[in-house]
Amino acid sequence: MTPAERDMERATRMLARAKHVVVLTGAGISAESGIRTFRDTMRGLWKDFDPATLATPEAFARDPEVVTRWYDHRRLGCLAAEPNAGHTALVAIERGLIRRGGRFTLLTQNVDRLHHRAGSANVHELHGTIVVWRCTATGNELEPPPSPFREFPPRSAWGGLLRPAVVWFGEMLPIPALDAAARALRTCDCFMSVGTSSAVYPAAGFVDLAAASGSGTIEVNPQETPASGRFDVSIRARAGAALPELAARAFGTGT
Ligand code: APR
Repeated sequence: MTPAERDMERATRMLARAKHVVVLTGAGISAESGIRTFRDTMRGLWKDFDPATLATPEAFARDPEVVTRWYDHRRLGCLAAEPNAGHTALVAIERGLIRRGGRFTLLTQNVDRLHHRAGSANVHELHGTIVVWRCTATGNELEPPPSPFREFPPRSAWGGLLRPAVVWFGEMLPIPALDAAARALRTCDCFMSVGTSSAVYPAAGFVDLAAASGSGTIEVNPQETPASGRFDVSIRARAGAALPELAARAFGTGT
């Protein structure tokens, strides 16, 4: 048995025995849907911009037109994308667990809503979502149609500037999502991190919280990450390949 086969075997056993699975996803699970990871977005029109400076309240205050153009460009890319085999495999794992009386919690750093569109039910968005925009004057939220805004920066019917309902660098993460993550990580017995560089906290620390609760931990990423050594099993593979195989082996389900 090769080391990779041994890892897949171990991860399958952990999933097959689990009563409560928690999965954390990052941009990597949407890469196979054609959505560039956060740092890959900066090509073409946006090649001279730094995402870390655009994704901030300060940038929005300084130049709302550039920031809203960039986010509208990404919003339309997310709406045009389709969930991939990795997303649908997580739905199969969630449904397989529930069928046998287990629990499943999905914590995502992604803002593209592809987990919802794939059919995942118990999803918590740690960084908000790009498909919903918020009026900065009233706090009211709306889901704009799948076409470009007609003016930049866009304004709401209430007259305020519209911004994407994502969490910008320096902003607080949504308390309900953080609470859900904390509760789930205290009670899970299998934690799987998929497609994240584990560079951004608090998500990057979730593996430690899960392990402290006695949970088994699995990483799925074609690349090694700074957190790889903190997982029981690290599967060096694309989400679109590894997750359907895990779903089939652990729950006997197609994706
Ligand atoms: N399957 C699984 N993982 C993949 C795939 C794939 N097909 N393709 C790429 N990856 C991995 C990369 O190896 C990388 O480790 O996905 C990870 C993407 O890392 P980032 O681009 O840093 O995205 P993410 O980890 O989600 O970033 C976390 O930081 O950029 C901010 O707020 C932003 O939510 C984001 C957060």
